Amino acid sequence: MLAGERALVAHAGKNSSIVELTSGSGLVGLQLLNLEPGARLFGVDVDCDAESIARANAELLGYGGRARFACASLWDGGMESMLHAENTDMLVCNPPYIPEPPGAALPVEAGAGADGSAHLRRVVALAKATQPETLVLSWCSLCDPEGIVGDAEEAGYHLDELFVVVIADGEYSGSVHDYLVTLPTAFLNSSHETIAAVASDGAARFAYLLMSGSFTRDGMPSHAGQKTMRALCTDFADRGIRALETFQGATESRIWLLDRWDEIALRAILHGPMDARLHALSP
Ligand SMILES: C[S@@+](CC[C@H](N)C(=O)[O-])C[C@H]1O[C@@H](n2cnc3c(N)ncnc32)[C@H](O)[C@@H]1O
Repeated sequence: MLAGERALVAHAGKNSSIVELTSGSGLVGLQLLNLEPGARLFGVDVDCDAESIARANAELLGYGGRARFACASLWDGGMESMLHAENTDMLVCNPPYIPEPPGAALPVEAGAGADGSAHLRRVVALAKATQPETLVLSWCSLCDPEGIVGDAEEAGYHLDELFVVVIADGEYSGSVHDYLVTLPTAFLNSSHETIAAVASDGAARFAYLLMSGSFTRDGMPSHAGQKTMRALCTDFADRGIRALETFQGATESRIWLLDRWDEIALRAILHGPMDARLHALSP
């Protein structure tokens, strides 16, 4: 959402066409419509229930006239021509990005191939082929972050701003911990100090970085974003949260810590009616 808002600056007042791939409930794209009254949205998700929910959310928010959704896979043959037909100005994607051990598929909302980058690489390839003006991606430190940002740069995009959240392992990432530690492209930290910061009850095995970025089509690709990724992720894997206190990358970056209490508060806000929210917030 933050990266999307950052990218919207380039589209202010332009009646832009936003395409959100792997749109889920539509929350990111719908928030962009909220901020940019002239924009329109086309969302695509392989889960047809998610498509219906996104459509219902758009109606509920009063954006039905500006938002359309379809049930389709990123790998469908018509994806590239759809992006051309939509005259896509902004391409947004918060995909699955958890690495899947061989023979152990994760649920559709999480699993993304052997190194966790399958969906991201597909979206970057679609951006390369169709060249929207801005690209908004989310990824994490477990899914070859340097490779993903490097691919986006090779596709002609410049990373304008990076948003980073340190978080404790979750249901899916925690379930593949033993596999993650074998991957040279997965960066995590299990130091006592870092675990204590993200999960003060000790209920975490490791911490990792959730990231998002806004990219602009540039024509003169640099490797600044890729260098930023390498420096950030290797230093985080070595020194945990200490690395983040002083981090200075080649890319403008904002870094936060989201601990277990923040996660509980967010879940309560997102999923519960008011009395359930209050209950969750007062254990
Ligand atoms: C991490 S969720 C994010 C949902 C939404 N973008 C958001 O930010 O709330 C990932 C989404 O990717 C969708 N997805 C997984 N594989 C897909 C594919 N091959 N094509 C399109 N969508 C896919 C899932 O159904 C899920 O809704």
